Amino acid sequence: MHDEVVWVTGASAGIGQATVRRFAAAGAKVLAMARREPRLHELESEFPGRVKGLVFDVTDESGREAALNALPSPWSEPAVLVNNAGAAFGLELAQEAKWKDWQQMIDLNVTSLVFMTHAVLPGMAARNRGHLINLGSVAGTYPYKGGQVYGASKAFVEQFSLGLRCDLLGKQVRVTSVEPGAVQTEFAQVRFGGDKDKAAQVYKGFQPLTPADIAETVFWCASLPGHVNINRLEVMPVMQAPAGFVWHRDDS
Ligand SMILES: NC(=O)c1ccc[n+]([C@@H]2O[C@H](COP(=O)([O-])OP(=O)(O)OC[C@H]3O[C@@H](n4cnc5c(N)ncnc54)[C@H](OP(=O)(O)O)[C@@H]3O)[C@@H](O)[C@H]2O)c1
Repeated sequence: MHDEVVWVTGASAGIGQATVRRFAAAGAKVLAMARREPRLHELESEFPGRVKGLVFDVTDESGREAALNALPSPWSEPAVLVNNAGAAFGLELAQEAKWKDWQQMIDLNVTSLVFMTHAVLPGMAARNRGHLINLGSVAGTYPYKGGQVYGASKAFVEQFSLGLRCDLLGKQVRVTSVEPGAVQTEFAQVRFGGDKDKAAQVYKGFQPLTPADIAETVFWCASLPGHVNINRLEVMPVMQAPAGFVWHRDDS
């Protein structure tokens, strides 16, 4: 990993921040992308010369293009892209959900991830090396109440990743979908519109995964020999399991 250029989106918090640290500690040159500039400066100071912050909103079409087009070499030629920026907004039943929440999840989890992939793929294919690591979720496989659009956006990530594998066959470009269960990050706080107390309830009496657990998983996928491709990797805390089917019984 020494001096390899690694791009990480959603680098200012949670899994992305831990992933920046993991790759930088291994000697990579990490481009850390997010909107919160001070958090990216902190990472730059922690790893001088190894981490470079790049501030932009990944859902903003002109902003993201301008930010990436201005990158100098070697930062403009990533060996690894960790497509991590993502969020859930709201936990309402579909029939009560806000259209804006749905739209924002699709913009961030689907459109932005596809944009970032489209931005790096021609270069990776031309150089005949690269690795796309996409953050999916167990929600993309197992549905839960109130998680319909979030889960669907993560099912997209999984299917898109597998589809890329088909197209890239014959190239030395790897694609991986990492699909975590519950990880304690700012995720729940973002989902509940900044309500810290409500977010804390999610993890009460429960041992979730840590961002470092997932960063280690992502790093492991990237550091395997070049001929090995992890297609999808599902990882949960021991204290979590898929819920299975539920029945509604009519008592009348
Ligand atoms: N936590 C979990 O339980 C869990 C489980 C499965 C999968 N995941 C997935 O893992 C990924 C990371 O989640 P996390 O739990 O680490 O969440 P988090 O702590 O809320 O971090 C999300 C990151 O995404 C960035 N981001 C959000 N909107 C953005 C935008 N419009 N433009 C640029 N950056 C943006 C945030 O940075 P700024 O706000 O500074 O822009 C932040 O760095 C997501 O794709 C999530 O769906 C999480």
